[in-house]
Amino acid sequence: MASGHLRHLVAGNWKMNGLKASTDVLDAVIKGHDAVLAARADLMVCPPATLLAAFAARAGGSTVAVGAQDCHAAAAGAFTGDIAAEMIADAGGKAVIVGHSERRTLHGESDADVRAKAEAAWRAGLLPIVCVGETRAERDAGHALAIVARQIAGSLPDSLPGDLVVAYEPVWAIGTGLTPTTADVAEMHGAIRRQLVERYGGAGQAVRLLYGGSVKPSNAAELMAIADVNGALVGGASLVADDFLAIAKACGTS
Ligand code: PGA
Repeated sequence: MASGHLRHLVAGNWKMNGLKASTDVLDAVIKGHDAVLAARADLMVCPPATLLAAFAARAGGSTVAVGAQDCHAAAAGAFTGDIAAEMIADAGGKAVIVGHSERRTLHGESDADVRAKAEAAWRAGLLPIVCVGETRAERDAGHALAIVARQIAGSLPDSLPGDLVVAYEPVWAIGTGLTPTTADVAEMHGAIRRQLVERYGGAGQAVRLLYGGSVKPSNAAELMAIADVNGALVGGASLVADDFLAIAKACGTS
């Protein structure tokens, strides 16, 4: 596939971790993303919403982007506790993760919800990072490709109004230390790429496909070298600057 030229993106999903003191981690990431590393991979940190504005201000002028972990589909309104994509943009965020499996499972988000959130992201000028992935039971039953194809079909709009990132995150690999075989990742990413190209033509070639789920320094080089893997969505290891930077360093080395 002609997508081999896409720059890797390594995005850190901090989930519900991080206090003001965690700014040290962001500072170390900014410092470590020097010219050599920046030539290899784009870096993004997605802290909890409480830190978004401060992190965006701190990272301003650096090569590290700051994103959010979720948004509401509406631009404003009576949605207690929720955050609009416009608010993320206003706080200096450049991207937003939507449809993470923890949102789909713990907050009952459907593919249609995720699609509405992705559309909200574009409306606000943000880059949506749309997450998909099968459960262990679905993989064991041989349904992984079909489940992910269905999620992609339902979570993305009929045409692309802007840049898009898709993250394949097998639910059973998140936070478990387990990862699929390189053959399974290659098969899934190849299938996602074909589906995107069928749906969007050439624009489907430009969508970066991240792998997520227990990415760490010790497995990053192998995962990042797989065809159609254009970066990583990193949870636990993104909370440690050295580990996060080591994952980025593993990009583009093969
Ligand atoms: P993990 O999480 O790297 O801790 O497995 C990945 C994610 O949920 O995005």
